[in-house]
Amino acid sequence: MLRPKIKTELPGPIAKKWLDKDKKFISPSYTRSYPAVVEKGEGVWIYDVDGNRFLDMTAGVAVLATGHSHPEIIETAIEQIKKLVHMSGTDFYYPAEIMLAEKLAEIVPGAANRKVFFGNSGAEANEAAFKLARFHTKRPYVIAFIGAFHGRTYGAMSLSGSKSVHHKGFAPLIQGVIHVPYPDPYRPPFGIPEERVSDAVIDYIDNVVFRRLVDPEEVAAVFFEPIQGEGGYIVPPLDFFRKLKDLISKYGILLVDDEVQSGMGRTGRMFAIEHFGIIPDIVTVAKGIASGFPLGAMVARSSLMDWGAGAHASTFGGNPVSCMVALKTIELLENGLIENAEKMGHYLMENLKKLMDTYEFIGDVRGKGLMIGVDIVKDRESKKYNPGLRNRIVDEAFKKGLLLLAAGPSAIRWAPALTVKKEELDVALEIFEEALRTVEKRR
Ligand SMILES: Cc1ncc(COP(=O)(O)O)c(C=O)c1O
Repeated sequence: MLRPKIKTELPGPIAKKWLDKDKKFISPSYTRSYPAVVEKGEGVWIYDVDGNRFLDMTAGVAVLATGHSHPEIIETAIEQIKKLVHMSGTDFYYPAEIMLAEKLAEIVPGAANRKVFFGNSGAEANEAAFKLARFHTKRPYVIAFIGAFHGRTYGAMSLSGSKSVHHKGFAPLIQGVIHVPYPDPYRPPFGIPEERVSDAVIDYIDNVVFRRLVDPEEVAAVFFEPIQGEGGYIVPPLDFFRKLKDLISKYGILLVDDEVQSGMGRTGRMFAIEHFGIIPDIVTVAKGIASGFPLGAMVARSSLMDWGAGAHASTFGGNPVSCMVALKTIELLENGLIENAEKMGHYLMENLKKLMDTYEFIGDVRGKGLMIGVDIVKDRESKKYNPGLRNRIVDEAFKKGLLLLAAGPSAIRWAPALTVKKEELDVALEIFEEALRTVEKRR
């Protein structure tokens, strides 16, 4: 079995040169946590510019569903590049975009009668959903959740509520977004017991938002992540979205399901909302949809798409190479990768949970499929966030050749490619435990 191989100090001499240049020329707004300067990738393995080998449990921030450089993805992309790289779906027609729209309309929950708008990213998909929800309902307000992350453009940023740094300096944001608590079972809002989390949040929307703040007939949509990603990999109770739908559908409020991080097989279902058994009105996807090629999609019930020519468009959205790769990605997902995500997810979850027997600072291990968060706390009693220790663990793992990322105030996210094998997870778990041991000794 391949293992990470770190043969230089980190960052290595060549990486250092790139980091110096990066500092000079790249926007400092990015959120890099350790100096991995990547040259190539294969499956779940990454090689840096100094020839060091890392085991990647991030999949390029939950993007590479099929792993780095999957041979069938590369072949599909090359074939399409030889034929047509760009024509713009805004002004012309081409089969790749139409074929992918047909496929997405078939696979989203609820299936029949769906239409698709294509952009290039998750933010653009949510931006499109925000615009469509207002346009169709002619209502001004939307509800979103505290802890949510929907992207960086003005609309998507205004919907987000995970970190104030995302908003700082950018006000005024888009008006009309009301944030409500997310039903987090580990740290329940309002300090209520875990089993009352769903009801308490529904009650808040009904009795505080709808009675005191805005009339529900003026609310266009509720935006939600079925499992919060950047907010800390938080899984709500299974009954929550059913209760939410029961409350809002009587007012004609739309449910917009942001599957940008949780979709495309990552949780062991094509879309994470399938775990919760409800059908949303609009689904947004990006990240995993095209195995690393830029693409975002907003899939809505056809009856909602009553906007006319010119209302919304994108020069690059629905790029033919991205669309063909997305079709191949979906084929690979349907032919085994979703199943693998579920199986490997169980295995990873079980083994991460075992670490809780030894390491008191692991407060919670949660998730579905290969979307798993390990919450690092000051102590289990108070569940207080421990971002300092979390960052040291992620750093230590990097030094040992394991790539992980932070999520939320104090979680470590595991989001490997859906191609990951048991033996690769074993190596990752072994290194992770070494990192835990190292930071524990230094405490
Ligand atoms: C749930 C969710 N929505 C939207 C986005 C924004 O996607 P993008 O960075 O492609 O604009 C992200 C990115 O992390 C996300 O996790």
